[in-house]
Amino acid sequence: MNPTVDYLRISLLDRCNFRCQYCMPEGEDLNYILKQNLLKRDELLTLLREVFVPLGFRRFRLTGGEPLLRPDVVDIVRDIATLSETQDLAMTTNGFLLSEKAEALHDAGLQRVNISLDSLHSETFDKIIGNRTKSRWKQTWNGIQKAYEVGFDPLKINVVVIPGVNDTEVLDLAALTVERRWHVRFIEFMPVGNANLFTHKGWIPSEELRQRIRQHWGLEPASVTGAGPADVFQIPNAKGTLGFISQMSECFCDRCNRMRLSADGWLRPCLLDETGQIDLRSALHQGASFPELRQAVRHLLHLKPEINFKDRDNGTLTGAYSRTMSQIGG
Ligand code: GTP
Ligand code: 5AD
Ligand code: SF4
Repeated sequence: MNPTVDYLRISLLDRCNFRCQYCMPEGEDLNYILKQNLLKRDELLTLLREVFVPLGFRRFRLTGGEPLLRPDVVDIVRDIATLSETQDLAMTTNGFLLSEKAEALHDAGLQRVNISLDSLHSETFDKIIGNRTKSRWKQTWNGIQKAYEVGFDPLKINVVVIPGVNDTEVLDLAALTVERRWHVRFIEFMPVGNANLFTHKGWIPSEELRQRIRQHWGLEPASVTGAGPADVFQIPNAKGTLGFISQMSECFCDRCNRMRLSADGWLRPCLLDETGQIDLRSALHQGASFPELRQAVRHLLHLKPEINFKDRDNGTLTGAYSRTMSQIGG
């Protein structure tokens, strides 16, 4: 049976203050969405209230680029938190601006955050995020601490594992969960955007990482609040958990419960497949009625089980992807 699709990932903008090599590498010619073409705060709220909530969407995640660069991000959080149907309101961020914004976001009703942290070493971190000026590691780390202090729970850390770059840090990153109630997730690197960047072996199967951790500490099944595809384990007696997101080695498309709304209002049924995507912003501007919009989304929901990550092909994505991860919202 197909799962209920009730999780909407909402990209607030496609820009970012980092240039993670695997997501929006420097030198790539990114055609940023023009400011006037971004879905406005009131348009987003209208779409949620009149289209997505009536169709059963209850879980919302704000993504980017970097969502904290959006000046009205706290107001958007408050809008969505105020919808009585919202059951889960989360954000995926690079954490750099969290020291200053975590408290306001929490007060506005954001429930949880997933923060990227690919390395515990500032040099490796800066290399991955494409930074050549003052190191950004410390401020990102402080952002994570601040998020924890203000009460985001569960607090998750996303690590994209890149062979030859940060894979030697897997045990050190896993160790963060022993004494802290942090939840570290290892993500298999997907060669989208710029597939040639990390040229040697592109990704490491989650099971290989689990073996390393098992040998060191042991590993047992666990659970944590979440709507995504991670398989969750924990080091025995650890305070936090370990998640593994295995889109390259395993297929979780048959349990896919989400759709993605881009910052310019395109609703896409799958991270890597644009089949049937709808331009909701233009439809709204052209005066489509709410029942018409709902009907269009319902149609896409109907198509969705047929649309998924088909081009895995042994770890090499063969499809042509017109948007990078930063543009799709990860
Ligand atoms: P939780 O609700 O906390 O479980 O969040 P999540 O895992 O859905 O969100 P997050 O933004 O932290 O996503 C982490 C990673 O999971 C992303 O970087 C993607 O690589 C991967 N991911 C999330 N959704 C999908 C999906 O539908 N398909 C694929 N292939 N990967 C996904
Ligand atoms: N492969 C896997 N995960 C990626 N992310 C961005 N690009 C990739 C990729 N090519 C992740 C980031 C962030 C989330 C939104 O997407 O680490 O946690
Ligand atoms: Fe920015 Fe996140 Fe993409 Fe990195 S992964 S470039 S932090 S949007």
